Amino acid sequence: MPRGAMSTMVMTGGTSGFGAIAAGRLRRSAENRLLLGARRVQEPGGSLPLDLAELESVRAFAGAVRGELAGAPIDALILNAGLVRADANRRTVDGYETTFAVNHLAHYLLLRLLLPELATGATVVLTTSGTHDPATGAGLTPPRHADAALLAYPDRDPGLDTRPRKAGEHAYTASKLCTVLTARALMEQESLRDKAVTVIAYCPGQVFGTGLAQDLPFYMRAVWSVMGAPVLSRPVRRLNRTLNTRVDAGNTLADLASGVVRPPAGRIYAALRGGQLTWSDPSEAARGVEAARTLWRDSAELAGLPA
Ligand SMILES: NC(=O)c1ccc[n+]([C@@H]2O[C@H](COP(=O)([O-])OP(=O)(O)OC[C@H]3O[C@@H](n4cnc5c(N)ncnc54)[C@H](OP(=O)(O)O)[C@@H]3O)[C@@H](O)[C@H]2O)c1
Repeated sequence: MPRGAMSTMVMTGGTSGFGAIAAGRLRRSAENRLLLGARRVQEPGGSLPLDLAELESVRAFAGAVRGELAGAPIDALILNAGLVRADANRRTVDGYETTFAVNHLAHYLLLRLLLPELATGATVVLTTSGTHDPATGAGLTPPRHADAALLAYPDRDPGLDTRPRKAGEHAYTASKLCTVLTARALMEQESLRDKAVTVIAYCPGQVFGTGLAQDLPFYMRAVWSVMGAPVLSRPVRRLNRTLNTRVDAGNTLADLASGVVRPPAGRIYAALRGGQLTWSDPSEAARGVEAARTLWRDSAELAGLPA
């Protein structure tokens, strides 16, 4: 984008948590125009309706974005929305397990629908989680696979730990493995070859005090909220190097999306650790070239798209 020109950004998950901090920061720059997808549209012009739990809503949002763009390209696409649930029992209107459907499939569909609108030199940031990697020792059930059909219908997964909490954790960590694999598959897309698009899978580390725990049991919500108190952020951060404040996680997301921070050559996984951005490798499963291609193809089928 030429210096001084307006930069158009499209974002999910900018209404609460560290995403709201990122959105606020991006909006404060007069050079940015931010189109936010939101479940609750507050001010006209501020955001466009989007419920990631309905593929039809994703299609309508992509159409509304295209209308707003009026032919202008997208300079940054920020796919940050996500949720975690206490089980894997809920299904979306499309019949898919909710965590997988919202965190992965809806974002995959949005990405596919908006690919043609990406500018040359655009940036795509997909928010993942270090919990996709057993090596981070986050304590959540690690992903056993990124098989879209089994994640969409966990009842058909022969290896599923059916204890509700374990199944819910698996749905979350596997959806975030899908996010890294989607970033990898995106880089291979023929249609992007000449556009020099920067793709980043962003792990914000552990960020307490956001809305992410809202579907978890009361005691977990309480711990999440107390640990997120600003007065605790410094001592709590010393306990664990994956911890970050909401402000650090939000500002870093904004810096990645706006190109203030660029990945070193060949790196796509940006992990914020103790306030410092690192460019380490994601998990071994997240580096699987064939797994990324298969997920891309299978997700297309579930989302009703050609592969
Ligand atoms: N906090 C952490 O420790 C942590 C760690 C690793 C990764 N992450 C990831 O970081 C991202 C942001 O999380 P957060 O901690 O900031 O949580 P958060 O405060 O709950 O933010 C989640 C965002 O996603 C939106 N969202 C959820 N379901 C949606 C739906 N069906 N349709 C449209 N938007 C929806 C929420 O909208 P509403 O405002 O309408 O709820 C909100 O803007 C998520 O992808 C999460 O998985 C978080």
